[in-house]
Amino acid sequence: MRFGLFGTGPWAHQAHAPALAAHQDVEFVGVWGRNAEKAAALAGEHGAEPYADADALIADVDAIAVALPPDVQADIALRAAKAGRHLLLDKPPAFTAAAADGIVAAATEAEVAGVVFFTRRFMPQIQQFVEGAREAGGWLEARVDHLGSIFQPGNPFGESAWRKESGGLWDVGPHAVALVLPVLGPVTEVTALAGPRDMTHVLMRHAEGAISTLSLSVDAPAKLEREDAVLYGESGVAVVPPVPWLPVEAFGRAIDALIGAANGGESPALDLRFGAEVVRVLAAAAESIEKGRTVTLA
Ligand SMILES: NC(=O)c1ccc[n+]([C@@H]2O[C@H](COP(=O)([O-])OP(=O)(O)OC[C@H]3O[C@@H](n4cnc5c(N)ncnc54)[C@H](OP(=O)(O)O)[C@@H]3O)[C@@H](O)[C@H]2O)c1
Repeated sequence: MRFGLFGTGPWAHQAHAPALAAHQDVEFVGVWGRNAEKAAALAGEHGAEPYADADALIADVDAIAVALPPDVQADIALRAAKAGRHLLLDKPPAFTAAAADGIVAAATEAEVAGVVFFTRRFMPQIQQFVEGAREAGGWLEARVDHLGSIFQPGNPFGESAWRKESGGLWDVGPHAVALVLPVLGPVTEVTALAGPRDMTHVLMRHAEGAISTLSLSVDAPAKLEREDAVLYGESGVAVVPPVPWLPVEAFGRAIDALIGAANGGESPALDLRFGAEVVRVLAAAAESIEKGRTVTLA
């Protein structure tokens, strides 16, 4: 599959580009970034070509991988889907449900495949945990703490304007929601509050009655950084296993999933519809914080 990469920031360097370059079924064609020098440097590291025009790169490939801020990604993904290109997007695929749904609609119309890269969900240990928890059933509640401290000196993720504005709800929130949704099922109600240091608490009711709570931040004091997730139910307590952080391997599995779907296989679990469902929940949490009330989802 011929791939174009959009984005030249830290995540493009750490995950997308090395994984595309390493994958045996990928021809890594080119890199687009708004900064031509950064695009040339990243493309050069991996034997790809730099592109100054995003649509020219879309035209030259079968699929795009995107490592850009969510709103910028949504625009490029829509253009690529309309041009008949497969989509390997990063989380969250957009900032609004309308934008995420627009990508789903365009991809469906063009009959192209799509995957959203929720890194942890592509780790085999987490995949097995989620499948086992789904089969076991009987869960009454879930609690996820995902607290980062990205504005420490030297942390590349602290440079993003959108992370400063949209915080943990939109940066680490997608991982938390993507973990809980497949086990507890669709969300029907969301209540959220935001406190100091970007501490955002999200309370969700799931269609079958379970309740989940998420504590999210990207600006927590360094000593409070943690990633913990626990399910509680009829059969007791299940702790989501800690896994090593291996983004290149995980991205390789996301590429496998996209190629499989593009070749007529099943739509991946982490497809564009799932990505849009995650965005709908996060947008409801943002609305709840803004309006000071519970938001109901259809
Ligand atoms: N799955 C995961 O675990 C994971 C982990 C990290 C990040 N991500 C996702 O990956 C994406 C990229 O993240 P990142 O950490 O690399 O930082 P980022 O700030 O989201 O993206 C940086 C890239 O976006 C470009 N950019 C910023 N604003 C732009 C605009 N208005 N128009 C065009 N390009 C723009 C930057 O160009 P300049 O260099 O010119 O500023 C740079 O190439 C994000 O969506 C993030 O959520 C996912």
